[in-house]
Order: sequence, then structure tokens, then C-alpha cells
Amino acid sequence: MKDKIVVGIIGAGSMGAGIAQVAANADCDVLLFDNSLEVAENAMIKLKKVLIRLVEKDKITHEKSNAIISNIRLINSIDQFKNADLVIEAIVENLEIKKSVFSNLEAVVGKNCIIATNTSSLSVTNLASSCTLPNRFIGIHFFNPAPLMPLVEIVPALQTDEVVLQKVNEFIKKWGKTNVIAKDTPGFIVNRIARPFYGEALRIYDEGIADFNTIDVAMKEIGGFRMGPFELMDFIGNDVNYAVTESVFKSFFCDPRYKPSFTQKQYAEAGWLGRKSSKGYYSYHEGKIVNEFSKPNKNELEKIFKRILVMLINEAADALYLNIASKSDIELAMQKGVNYPKGLLAWADELGIENCVNDLDNLYKLYHEDRYRVSVLLRNMAEVNSTFF
Ligand code: NAI
Repeated sequence: MKDKIVVGIIGAGSMGAGIAQVAANADCDVLLFDNSLEVAENAMIKLKKVLIRLVEKDKITHEKSNAIISNIRLINSIDQFKNADLVIEAIVENLEIKKSVFSNLEAVVGKNCIIATNTSSLSVTNLASSCTLPNRFIGIHFFNPAPLMPLVEIVPALQTDEVVLQKVNEFIKKWGKTNVIAKDTPGFIVNRIARPFYGEALRIYDEGIADFNTIDVAMKEIGGFRMGPFELMDFIGNDVNYAVTESVFKSFFCDPRYKPSFTQKQYAEAGWLGRKSSKGYYSYHEGKIVNEFSKPNKNELEKIFKRILVMLINEAADALYLNIASKSDIELAMQKGVNYPKGLLAWADELGIENCVNDLDNLYKLYHEDRYRVSVLLRNMAEVNSTFF
């Protein structure tokens, strides 16, 4: 048996470089490839700077920093992945390009090498189908920044072998991550269940019920969320967040529950991307919001918070009903992947399932839109007065 696991990484952008750091930190032999050598070299320069800072802050020792660097080798051809045990792809989010990379890769690696994708929006099953041995293919979805975010969604394709799933689960746990297992469906767990956090907030704004700040204050002060939806969209970037919403919507065959917002589309089109362009829903100067707001009314805050929360709960309940993940993984994913203050299903118990159903039914009565349909699971539970925990 080899003493060190050999991990190949394709793509040295924000995700690939971050994953390389995580694997090197866990003492794997990391081979990092990007079709732009300059990008790969810059990634190493950036990593060295990050490690120097970590040593200065006493977060890691000087020896550990050296070990991480010496565990990573830049390579200039995928032929050098020949002895890899696991290869993780983190290149541009394009189905055809990814598929062609996997066919080339399969011609190089051994038959026991596990091939993984870090895609956030493409079908893992579709990507697996580009391999002659699709049973060794799997999704390993890290969150950004990979070294800091604890959650990893492990996404077996329809074709993935159970043994491959178990092996990957063990590998990634050893890398110090918190794993959840998600069914290969659009948005996996986090990007699916989190949609209403943005979508319902935008809808409330579009209807003129409240301004951005009031909605953010509602979610932070009443709900205990670290960031409000608009602050968070500005942080993620309206271009990126809009693209995820649109992709989830299209992948769900235009289910109205995931309908994107014109407001966000236009903000992206105008280049009002958020923090990175110094203007989004808020204006920024040296990283700080410069707008001033009047104090929101407490009663209004409660209503806004409840409306967004029940929509999130409905989405979490439906994900459970449709076997996207286990109850505990749904709870863990939202707390570790997007820092929600509580698991949504536990929150539903706290609010009372019947109350959640009534709130959603009231929204449905008002709008007559499928967007507000109650998950069958919640309705069944309310009828027999049961709870999630
Ligand atoms: P990025 O644009 O920062 O990096 C992509 C890198 O891939 C670039 O350096 C590019 O030169 C390289 N590349 C493109 N085609 C290549 C090829 N054929 N062979 C080798 N290298 C190639 O992108 P980022 O943000 O790192 O995303 C990578 C993947 O991770 C995407 O699939 C994305 O959906 C996924 N992802 C992104 C997250 C994020 O927040 N940025 C979070 C989770 C997943």
C-alpha cells in the first residue's frame, strides 16, 4: 500500500486552488493542473502568502506551512495523473468542456482511480456518462472558500458504485470536512433549499412591501441570520447568484417555486454586482455600506421574517420528502454550508408544523401561484400533529 494518497486537481482557479490546499493539508500528494500555467503559478503564489499569514497568526507552524507547499506539485500535462488515486475537476462550468476533459483523463488514469467533479449546477449523472467506467465517477461539491468552509456535499451519480461513495466519504472526512450525501438533483442540498432566502426576499421587495434594508434587518434581528438576503447577494455577486437561480429554475423544468427575479437580472445586467463592483443593492466605500436607512417597524419585520422562513422550511421539507438527503444531512448542510442559525426542520417543529402550513396556505390563497404550494410532507404531518424530531 502507498503511504500517501495521490490527488490530481484539474483547474487552479478559486475552487481548484482551495481544494489543493485542503488535500495538501491532509498530507496527500497533490498534482495541480490548469490549462493556463500562469493561473496555476499565481495560485501557488497566493497560497504561499495565505500560509505566511497563517504562520504569523500562529494558526499553523512553519513546518506545517512548508509541508503543505511541498505536498503540491504543479504539472503541465494531464498525463502526469497516471498514478492518481483520485482526480477532482474544478474547471469552467461548461458541460461539453468538462465531458471532453473526463474522456481525455480516463485514457491516462488507472482503472481504480476515482474521478470527481466539483460542479455546482451540472448533472453529475450526465458528466459520469462521458466516462467508459461511469461507476467510478462522483460529485464532490466544496463550498467557497474551500479551506474555510466545513461542508462538502458528496453527490453520487446514478451510475456511481456504492464502494466509490464510501471511499470518497472516508477520504473527505479525513481531510477534516463535514460531509453530507445528496441526491444528484439541481442545486443538490444547499443551493436548492436556500433559493427562497433570495427569491422570496426579492419578491417582497418587488411587491413594494419593504426596502432591502428592512428585509435584511428582519432576517438578522428576528431570525438570527448572520447576513440578510441582500447583503448576502451583494457578497456572492448578483451575476453569480442570478446564474445559479436561473440554472436551478431551468433544471427544474421551470417550476415556479424557483422563478428568478427581474430585479436581480437587471442588477446583474447593469453591472451592479455587489461588493466587487462597489454597488449592488447597497453602495460600498472601502468595503463598508454607505447608505442610510430609517428604522424599520417591528411588526413589519416579524411578517417578513415569517414569510421567508416558511418558504425555506417548505423547501427543506420537500427535499426530505423527495429523498434528496437524510433529515440530519439537510439540517447539517444548511448550518455548515450557509451558516443558518438553526436547522430548518427543527425550526419548523419550533414554529409548529400546522402554523407553517397555514402561513403557506394563506400565501397560496392570496396569490394562487404554484410557488406557494405546500409540501405534501408538511401537510400530512400537520394532519396527524407530528414533528420532525
Ligand atoms: P475559476 O474560473 O476560478 O477557475 C477555473 C479554472 O479552470 C481556470 O483557472 C481555468 O484556466 C481552468 N480551466 C478551464 N478550462 C480548463 C481545462 N480544459 N483544463 C484545465 N483547466 C481549465 O472557477 P471556480 O470558481 O474555481 O469554479 C470551478 C468549478 O467549481 C466550477 O464547476 C464551479 O461551478 C464550481 N464551484 C464554484 C464555486 C464558487 O463559489 N466559485 C463553489 C462550488 C463549486
